[in-house]
Amino acid sequence: MMTDIDVRRLIEEALRAKEKAYAPYSNFRVGAALLAQDGSIYTGCNVENASYGATCCAERVAIFSAVADGKRSFKAIAVVSDSCGFTFPCGICRQVMLEFDVPVVIVADSGGTYREYTLEDLLPNGFKKFGV
Ligand code: THU
Repeated sequence: MMTDIDVRRLIEEALRAKEKAYAPYSNFRVGAALLAQDGSIYTGCNVENASYGATCCAERVAIFSAVADGKRSFKAIAVVSDSCGFTFPCGICRQVMLEFDVPVVIVADSGGTYREYTLEDLLPNGFKKFGV
């Protein structure tokens, strides 16, 4: 379980990251903040493209940024959007979270209400790696 302070900080960082979203096609801005085991935080926003399939979600931008910086152990990721309700990570982002064992997913609404889920809640029996 995350402490409330950790969660609030992570949500604040995700909200700040959302402001950087490049979303001219959907007008749906998303922000994510990923807490690494060493306490550092990596943020991401969605980055869209005229060729829609080239769009990258905020969660993956945050995770790839952390991995590119040498981090591979994580505690949690927070996700926020412009929607008044909660925004849950898409299936592709859940799969990427599984690859890097992001154990906790926090979704927050614009009013500051949040919920915590385990990745196992969101992606039960996910595909991890070939068995040996
Ligand atoms: N999006 C995210 O960034 N994260 C999610 O969890 C759901 C969807 C983005 C992709 C696209 O830029 C926009 O939201 C609308 O689908």
